[in-house]
Amino acid sequence: MGIIKNMQTKLTQLLNIKYPIIQAPMFLVSNVAMVTEAMKGGIAGCIPALNYRTLEELRAAIQELKANKVEGGSFGFNLIVNKSNLKYKGQLEVLCQEGCDFIITSLGSPEETIKQAHKVGIKVFCDVTDLHFAEKVQQLGADAAIAVNNEAGGHRGNLSPKELTNLLSEKLDIPVISAGGVGHKGDIDKMISYGAAGVSVGSPFIASVEAGVTDEYKQACVDYGSEDIIMTQRISRYALYSN
Ligand SMILES: Cc1cc2nc3c(=O)[nH]c(=O)nc-3n(C[C@H](O)[C@H](O)[C@H](O)COP(=O)(O)O)c2cc1C
Repeated sequence: MGIIKNMQTKLTQLLNIKYPIIQAPMFLVSNVAMVTEAMKGGIAGCIPALNYRTLEELRAAIQELKANKVEGGSFGFNLIVNKSNLKYKGQLEVLCQEGCDFIITSLGSPEETIKQAHKVGIKVFCDVTDLHFAEKVQQLGADAAIAVNNEAGGHRGNLSPKELTNLLSEKLDIPVISAGGVGHKGDIDKMISYGAAGVSVGSPFIASVEAGVTDEYKQACVDYGSEDIIMTQRISRYALYSN
């Protein structure tokens, strides 16, 4: 990604990390090894709680990350907070019992997560795709909004990185983290210039040594580019943030 020096932002302050980057949560890709390396590199890393089939496996992963934590890095978990996630309540309970630095919520109202997580000092960042939900999560007490733009992998938004980041950083009081389309340092600089306090980066990390996917998948991420990606409404029918 190139070398970033002295880039202190509200995100680096919030998470006590060296660089304003979150290794984004990716279903069936993110794992303890990736997040451990992220922390060693001075950034934050996040894993979807649903990557663990049982709550005991989730608890074991948190304990491993607590043991692996190094100065300048931080770790968190992603919770799907709508009713599609039957394990939501149990996952939230385990996260609050064990502790982690932050939770990223997606696909629903973050109200309960914010309430419980704040009681034990866990920060909560909420995925949003428009101003309406961004204002809602701010009002609920979110510590930052993750602005998921139309270049993001996974469930993407509709606005361009510039439009969404500009809009939210102008209108919100909480920090805005830009998610989508960041591949190198120049992209980070751009997002910061649009008003972001940092970036959340997913796709480029699929090709990392530690990612829990096949070598063929990793190689495909290297061989193909953004023009080869297609948008589908069919695999997951959930719109972002519907209740
Ligand atoms: C393979 C893959 C799986 C993802 N799974 C999740 C997930 O489980 N939960 C979530 O909140 N976001 C998920 N995302 C979205 C990422 O957290 C992040 O917002 C996105 O990757 C940013 O865009 P980028 O891929 O262009 O960096 C996923 C993204 C990818 C590429």
